[in-house]
Amino acid sequence: MQEKVIVVFGGAGGIGAETGARLASEGARIVIADLNGAPAQAHAADIVAGGGQAIGVACDITNPESCEQAAQAAVERFGQLDGMVNCAGISKPHDSLSLPPTDWARMVDVQLNGAFYSAQACAKRMGTAGGGIVFITSTNAEAAFPRRAAYCAAKAGVAMLTKVLAIEWAERRIRVNAVGPAYVATEMTQRNIAAGNVNEEQVKARIPLGRLAQPADVADAVSFLLSERAGFVTGHSLYVDGGWLAYGYF
Ligand SMILES: NC(=O)c1ccc[n+]([C@@H]2O[C@H](COP(=O)([O-])OP(=O)(O)OC[C@H]3O[C@@H](n4cnc5c(N)ncnc54)[C@H](O)[C@@H]3O)[C@@H](O)[C@H]2O)c1
Repeated sequence: MQEKVIVVFGGAGGIGAETGARLASEGARIVIADLNGAPAQAHAADIVAGGGQAIGVACDITNPESCEQAAQAAVERFGQLDGMVNCAGISKPHDSLSLPPTDWARMVDVQLNGAFYSAQACAKRMGTAGGGIVFITSTNAEAAFPRRAAYCAAKAGVAMLTKVLAIEWAERRIRVNAVGPAYVATEMTQRNIAAGNVNEEQVKARIPLGRLAQPADVADAVSFLLSERAGFVTGHSLYVDGGWLAYGYF
């Protein structure tokens, strides 16, 4: 990662915060882009205090112009752009029969449209050496959960977007991959547990490795996919799920 410039969308919280800090500790220069500028700047300041290089910017991933500005901030501050990770996301389980169309649209906007806008903004600024893109998807790109129609459909969309962009941008030497966690111990999951949408003990019992993922488990996979060690890996979804998808017994 030495000296690579990487934009982390949704980088102020949860998986994104951990991933930005990890990549910075490996020598990358980081742009933390998140909906609210203040937490993005605060996390960047923490990275700098730890000896890394980072800036924080406000970015609404549902707004293409806002994604352009975040990508441009990387070029203006660090002189280049080599990679991006999209960790921005929301979760709002709801019965499909009564799901308000505005909620459907918002989920697709944040999870699917935002993935495309952020990738497009970054890819057009990558140099002739190419770069790396990683989307955080979910086991829900493959496995259906009730009351998550928009979330599951959007994540499956991002898994296909990963393949399309990978083959289209291969000639630009841009590798595009996805990391799909099952349940990760973040605020998003805590909110779902508190709201009664997720039963933590049931979830642990369903995961062969017997625990929730930690954000660091996801950051490990992102770091690998952005690195030269994954130099011939593109169009791939890597599931960091403790065996969730493999499990097909009772
Ligand atoms: N937590 C899990 O169990 C889990 C499991 C599978 C997949 N995921 C996915 O991983 C990603 C990160 O989830 P997390 O658990 O870290 O969530 P989180 O809520 O802890 O963090 C999400 C971050 O995205 C930011 N964000 C939200 N809307 C945004 C927007 N419009 N523009 C820019 N930033 C925005 C938030 O401000 C926050 O910093 C999401 O895409 C989520 O769907 C999470």
